[in-house]
Amino acid sequence: MREKIVAGNWKMNKTLDEGKTLASEIVNMYADEVSDDVKAILCTPFINLPSVKGIIGNTKNVFLGAQNCNDHESGAYTGETSVPMLKAIGVSYVIIGHSERREYYNESDEFLAKKVDAALAGGVTPIFCCGEPLEIREAGTHFDYVTKQLTASLFHLSADQFKKIVIAYEPIWAIGTGKTATSDQAQEMHEKLRQHLASKYGDVAEEISILYGGSCKPDNAQEIFAGKDVDGGLIGGASLKSRDFIEIIKSF
Ligand code: PGA
Repeated sequence: MREKIVAGNWKMNKTLDEGKTLASEIVNMYADEVSDDVKAILCTPFINLPSVKGIIGNTKNVFLGAQNCNDHESGAYTGETSVPMLKAIGVSYVIIGHSERREYYNESDEFLAKKVDAALAGGVTPIFCCGEPLEIREAGTHFDYVTKQLTASLFHLSADQFKKIVIAYEPIWAIGTGKTATSDQAQEMHEKLRQHLASKYGDVAEEISILYGGSCKPDNAQEIFAGKDVDGGLIGGASLKSRDFIEIIKSF
């Protein structure tokens, strides 16, 4: 179902105690101040997940997310974390295909397709990231580039599987740079992505939440979320401050 979602990607930030403090602040503010039906997802480092789950408890509309998963169910993969392990501690979402993982850990479209399969098989919802680097935007081939990322990692799915995916469009040139896409650039890309999904999955495309990510902050969120194909945000830097994260959620 197409839902409004604001997901916080903490990346490799917050020790256990710091993370508990941040999560408590967010959960309390969410309960007190957010009345709208916006889902909040806290994507914390692995080590913080169980504690943050305890803090979230049964708070309505607040969910736990991981930032990565392995593509196998179990086995000899030193240092890795499987989807069943995540599911067992209450993780509902997992970020797959973030540009930092594509770039620094060489994660290819084909490999990401396997992670998507593993997440779906384990009952955890993928937040699948796509987005173009600056040189592609400047060359004017960004629509092609991003739609190809979706085709390569997602178009093997059945329509029923596809319904369970959340997509995040994150132009790489806007991540952590303070340089956000304009609301028109975001809406334009989201519309193109939805059309692309419709070309394969028909009406299902209308049910998919497409989030924007890249320097989304309290002072630009409202304008970005106003786009009719923009269903929320994947927030990095601003998700590390409880007040900023809550203000972004309240921007809807
Ligand atoms: P940013 O990061 O909000 O700090 O730009 C977004 C992301 O990488 O998910």
